[in-house]
Amino acid sequence: MVTAWPEEDWHSQRLLEALGRRGAASAVDPASLSAFVEEGVDVRAGGEPAGRFDAFVLVRGLGRAGDPDVQFEIYRALEESGAVVVNAIDALLAAQDKFRTTCLLARAGLPTPRAAVAQRPEEADAALEALGDAVLKPVTGSLGEGLLRVRDDAAGREALRERLARDGAVYLQEFVPTGGTDLRLFVVGGAVVGAMERVAPPGEWRTNVAQGARVRAYEAAGEVRAVAESAAAALGLDYAGVDLADGGEGMTVLEVNGNPSWRGILEATGQDMAERIADHVLARATCRLRRGVKSKLQETGATHG
Ligand SMILES: Nc1ncnc2c1ncn2[C@@H]1O[C@H](COP(=O)(O)OP(=O)(O)O)[C@@H](O)[C@H]1O
Ligand SMILES: [Mg+2]
Repeated sequence: MVTAWPEEDWHSQRLLEALGRRGAASAVDPASLSAFVEEGVDVRAGGEPAGRFDAFVLVRGLGRAGDPDVQFEIYRALEESGAVVVNAIDALLAAQDKFRTTCLLARAGLPTPRAAVAQRPEEADAALEALGDAVLKPVTGSLGEGLLRVRDDAAGREALRERLARDGAVYLQEFVPTGGTDLRLFVVGGAVVGAMERVAPPGEWRTNVAQGARVRAYEAAGEVRAVAESAAAALGLDYAGVDLADGGEGMTVLEVNGNPSWRGILEATGQDMAERIADHVLARATCRLRRGVKSKLQETGATHG
């Protein structure tokens, strides 16, 4: 398990314990990743050759120390060498970027609110005019932080200018009148394995648990389930938290998280998503080993038919 916070991060601890119940698991600091390129790319993780590990699970896999770009490339090199990396780095990066997420969802034909990015006031104003009632979000934010409701008026345009000056770009998403309620579905290995409804506190429209939302178990079925599973697939995530809301025109995907918290789902349902992720990682690692054994047998001509 690759994590920069093996002791402090609750999720890292839960997952390390769950993995440890299924095999030998250890925490590797992303800053301890290195590579030596000769004919191939030899990656070392935590002082050991990467080939000694059956899978790499990224929890808080981008380090506080070291260089994130180097870490991305090392994860890519691991994937290219056939290693199991969960979540895959490009899927994780796509989910971190709300604009990219919107593009991938729309391209997959999934319901998601209209959205826009802009880098200059003229284009930002035009986007706000087209969207009307909108939510201004940091392109790579989380936990409901930095979200602002904006309308096509002087205050809205002023908010756009402030964000442009600070961040260089703005991401706007059409406001969905949810009444302060939405769904969080947890998808692992292509299937919904946990779901909850989140209700924002009075006067709040953001339903993040980090913003004080109350949670209760939800029985996901039919279209809701299918949309969440397709959204995780559209981003290529092995495990994901999908935020879905209904503003009166059917369910729409607000965002997809590639590094989702599962504290709220545990509280709401009693189900520990760490167990589901660990099952999935084990299944993928086993699959890879079987394939390896099979091709070795074929190489040596030990199989017939
Ligand atoms: N377009 C929207 N319309 C209405 N509410 C929204 C919209 N986008 C986000 N929200 C509310 O804000 C919360 C946080 O937004 P989200 O896009 O999930 O960002 P974060 O990564 O910060 O969680 C959502 O769970 C939802 O309650
Ligand atoms: Mg969210």
